[in-house]
Amino acid sequence: RKPVTTVKLQKMKASNEPIAMVTAYDFLSARLADEAGVDMILVGDSLGNVIQGQESTLPVTLDEIIYHTKMVTRAVKSAFVIADMPFMTYHGSLDHTLHNAGRIMREGLAKGIKLEGGEELAPAVKALTLAGVPVIGHLGLTPQSVHVIGGYRVQGKNSEQARKMLKDAKALQEAGAIAVVLELITEELAEWITNQLSIPTIGIGAGASCDGQVLVFHDMLAYDPDDRRKKFVKVYAEVGRAIRDGFGDYVNDVKSRKFPSESHGFKGDNEVLQYLYG
Ligand code: KIV
Ligand code: NA
Repeated sequence: RKPVTTVKLQKMKASNEPIAMVTAYDFLSARLADEAGVDMILVGDSLGNVIQGQESTLPVTLDEIIYHTKMVTRAVKSAFVIADMPFMTYHGSLDHTLHNAGRIMREGLAKGIKLEGGEELAPAVKALTLAGVPVIGHLGLTPQSVHVIGGYRVQGKNSEQARKMLKDAKALQEAGAIAVVLELITEELAEWITNQLSIPTIGIGAGASCDGQVLVFHDMLAYDPDDRRKKFVKVYAEVGRAIRDGFGDYVNDVKSRKFPSESHGFKGDNEVLQYLYG
């Protein structure tokens, strides 16, 4: 499979070929996603929730994103790897933003970055793009703003918010963004925005009309077998249940001396046995 490029992603939008994206945070999960044919892999700051067990994405640091991005890019041969810029790492001076994105690209070897927000970030998107950093925008539910928004809820539910979101999406596109993630908005709004952009929209909880879809690794594989199933997630494998059952069987086998069996051991030769037992 040829490496996915920004040119390829634009062609996919133009030819109406859906873009499949998933998050990954380490070497082996990224390798499996890449080998399965995923077009884009996101080292999301959702790692704060699913890897670190935090309540939100806010505590995730730039160093942590870089650490995970290194593991992912080491594994990936074809997918376009994007890393999230963490909370408050792109809201100061353009120098600060460029420095932080530069570290993700240079140290993490990402092919691009994603940031949450609209029109207000146009200067940052433009500066990054001019510096050689492909940028993906993120509109709708933007988890880094959870304390401003007041919870994880569907966004863009009135016409004023809908108009504002389109304006934001167009401003990102105008500034050079290569794609926009639309999170937790109505299907109608996602379709309306998708139809008015020349760059791809990647939806999560945003319906079937987006140019691509993204899901969180742990959600789509039900890594947490006790997690409440989110409405917008489809589960493709019961990984968490398989792991929990596996551990349970292992504990039982050890306690009942079923493991290890003869096939798992090593036999000494006669000389050693002679020595051990006389
Ligand atoms: O961090 C993340 O996983 C994301 C996706 C939900 C788009 O930003
Ligand atoms: Na994110």
